[in-house]
Amino acid sequence: MPVSFSNIHTINDAKRFLTAQFRSANIESADIDARLLLIHATGLTRADLIASSQEALSPDLVQKIQALATRRISGEPIDHILGYREFYGLRFKVTKDVLSPRPETEMLVDAALDIIASHPTAKVLDLGTGSGAILISILGQAVDVSGTAVDISEGALKIAKENAQTHKVDGRINFEHGAWFAPVKERFDIIISNPPYITKPAMEALSPEVKNFDPYLALSGGDDGLEAYREIISTAKQHLNYAGKIIFEIGFDQKTSVENLLKAAGFLNVITTKDLAGHDRVVCAH
Ligand SMILES: C[S@@+](CC[C@H](N)C(=O)[O-])C[C@H]1O[C@@H](n2cnc3c(N)ncnc32)[C@H](O)[C@@H]1O
Repeated sequence: MPVSFSNIHTINDAKRFLTAQFRSANIESADIDARLLLIHATGLTRADLIASSQEALSPDLVQKIQALATRRISGEPIDHILGYREFYGLRFKVTKDVLSPRPETEMLVDAALDIIASHPTAKVLDLGTGSGAILISILGQAVDVSGTAVDISEGALKIAKENAQTHKVDGRINFEHGAWFAPVKERFDIIISNPPYITKPAMEALSPEVKNFDPYLALSGGDDGLEAYREIISTAKQHLNYAGKIIFEIGFDQKTSVENLLKAAGFLNVITTKDLAGHDRVVCAH
């Protein structure tokens, strides 16, 4: 159903109208999405949008906003409409080929930077790089760190390369196409991964917004959600330098399973940290 604007004259009218429309469509982040959509349509900054709130909208602009709002109400994620997602203070291009990086994944970047604080020239391997958000954010903060980004999706690697160029860290990243360690020859100080970890039953219950727009390859972790962890952990030690560390993002109920897989493979100091919502989220091991 196209969104129809009646009696909308100013930016402020549009903001209020869009927020109400998004709320009635059960969009959780209605207020934020309305603001982001108006920033995108008008080309204004957030501050200018507030300062211009009483300015009249041209008929062309109203049409453009209507079209974008209709896409949002039909279930297209705001990131896909904007074409980008903010992560660790940086803007990452996102398309249908990559998972939109999630806020909780920023914890992996923090965990890596904690290690890098005492090892500033560390070499980092990012398995399943997607948009490149994790490795690019790490390299953005740590100028002497370099790394390799692997993904099985060529479409994802293309976007990761573009994002690395945008953030001027492409000179410090090797991009490799293939399954986990298959294209990897060297050893690293840190292996980091947010692999696909959703179980088969949970895949069926995903919201249409995730199921229809995030790539299947980025989500599905096989029957029990642990396939990628098993594969990565089985070979990880051959690619870690002495005292190297592995950092995984996990699903909220995967702490015990992933910890056990790591311990069984001989990893030490296996520690899980919770995210801000109180869910087990990051597992680190030596
Ligand atoms: C959950 S997404 C994570 C993307 C990104 N690292 C992030 O945190 O936003 C998982 C990524 O793993 C990739 N992937 C899935 N299976 C793979 C495999 N066998 N080998 C390498 N990459 C794989 C997917 O294409 C996807 O980009």
